[in-house]
Amino acid sequence: MARSGIIGGVVAALVIAGAVLGVVLVWRPAIAAIDPPSPQSFAPELVKRGRELAALGNCNDCHTVRGGKNFAGGLPVPTPFGTIFSTNITPDAETGIGRWSEGAFRRAMRLGVDRQGRHLYPTFPYDHFTNVTDEDDRALYAYLMTREPVVAAARPNQLRFPFNQRVVIAGWKLLFLHRETYHPDATKSAEWNRGAYLVEGLAHCGACHTPRNALGAERTKVAFSGGEADDWSAYAINTKSPAPVAWDADALDFYLRNGWHPDHGTARGPMAQVVKNLAAVPASDVHAIAVYMADVFGVPHAARDRAAVVAEARSGVGRAPDSEGAAIFAAACASCHDSGRPPPYGGINLALSSAPSAPDPRNLVNIVLAGVRPVEGERSPIMPGFAGTMNDQQIAVLVNYLRSRFTSQPPWGGFEKTIEEARRTQTAYLTTSAAPTSAPASATQRDKP
Ligand code: HEC
Ligand code: HEC
Ligand code: HEC
Repeated sequence: MARSGIIGGVVAALVIAGAVLGVVLVWRPAIAAIDPPSPQSFAPELVKRGRELAALGNCNDCHTVRGGKNFAGGLPVPTPFGTIFSTNITPDAETGIGRWSEGAFRRAMRLGVDRQGRHLYPTFPYDHFTNVTDEDDRALYAYLMTREPVVAAARPNQLRFPFNQRVVIAGWKLLFLHRETYHPDATKSAEWNRGAYLVEGLAHCGACHTPRNALGAERTKVAFSGGEADDWSAYAINTKSPAPVAWDADALDFYLRNGWHPDHGTARGPMAQVVKNLAAVPASDVHAIAVYMADVFGVPHAARDRAAVVAEARSGVGRAPDSEGAAIFAAACASCHDSGRPPPYGGINLALSSAPSAPDPRNLVNIVLAGVRPVEGERSPIMPGFAGTMNDQQIAVLVNYLRSRFTSQPPWGGFEKTIEEARRTQTAYLTTSAAPTSAPASATQRDKP
């Protein structure tokens, strides 16, 4: 008792000392406000470069509300600790970043501190942006400062105590923010290094694809092992990939540029937004990302080629033939999937899809409920949603059938909650997919320099 009391006291003292030290160590001063620079003061070339970098960083996805003004902020970002609202990053002097110097902007990108010296929540993925070079930050700044200024005050965050205290972020940073510039790996090609710089930094692929710990930080030791994004699971994109056919650099390059691949299907949900943004990025950068990611995926397993996967699926056609699931599949799905019509307008053989073979059924349920649509503005869906025509029990039966028919994985079981949740949270994301309607160029960036 006495002993644990002493230990408790020591621990408490250490915690307090640590907190004080933490605050002192990470205290940041305000950076003087400037008069908003004139848009003409930025070289057009720099602004153009900044536009490409902003697309790589998905800045618009978080800082633009659907149907709202570009970069005016206000998007609610749900976290396990409450809801954080993105801020206005247009050059409006009062409500945006118009009075931020380039130095203040760079500090925000590297250290997650605003101009006034307040710590920013890592929902803003500065744990990745911290590696961005001076040059690239300059271009991003030039791009943002030449956007249309929008008057839009920040919405107050809705966070529980103690997470609503920004000083808590200081402690988080001590633990998890490791400011580092990118160190090229001399044993790899220039293209690989370019890809690594982008994937680990501005493109922040791991923000969705890496699992997080209880404090919301990425578990970097298991980077790319699969994470969550909105109401989707972001599959593992490393050696743990659930993809029945192994991803290689060519497939990645095609998928990232077009939003689909004949051996893998289409990008949906948050990934559709990522691909849409990549359409505004130089092809060489997308290729570099593909080269680096192919290395992260590892050496393809020889047995996992398309022909083998499809042949195996076909040989399993009779599996559970009289079941209710088989009947639903035959009536509702079979005519389109593996009809011989190529994707994105023909559905792929589901034995090729990561959706039935993933560790959880979330994406499969999302797709069955909401269907798949081409890019925004297109009227007809390319796959209808079944939310209105199937009840939860039928969806569960179908999902179980797809798992046993198209994969050799054990049944999921106990996912009634997933179906309920997916029905509830059919978010705006469910209405779009990156499947292009014509050339990839049709997937437009929301604005031009
Ligand atoms: C995953 C969502 C997300 C992405 C992607 C994102 N941001 Fe943010 N950003 C936020 C959120 C949320 C905040 C507010 C954080 C807070 O209030 O502490 C924020 C804050 C900021 C701030 C501080 C603004 C202020 O007024 O304090 C800047 C600057 C910024 N972001 C720039 C960018 C840029 C540039 C990009 C793209 C390279 C980007 N963000 C991408 C979510 C995002
Ligand atoms: C905002 C979150 C988010 C970001 C950022 C993101 N992804 Fe994804 N990604 C997802 C989700 C969610 C899926 C699953 C989508 C689906 O079911 O179609 C996905 C799917 C994928 C797939 C398909 C995997 C498979 O087996 O079918 C690949 C490959 C991929 N992402 C690569 C990347 C790369 C490379 C980057 C960085 C350039 C990236 N992602 C950034 C959320 C994200
Ligand atoms: C009218 C045609 C059509 C019908 C009917 C249809 N689909 Fe689809 N489905 C598509 C198309 C087109 C795509 C997009 C290409 C792709 O990804 O396979 C798609 C995509 C999918 C995907 C994602 C595959 C991937 O990883 O990219 C799944 C899973 C899926 N459908 C399941 C089903 C199920 C289950 C049913 C029956 C309840 C069904 N579909 C009915 C046309 C259809």
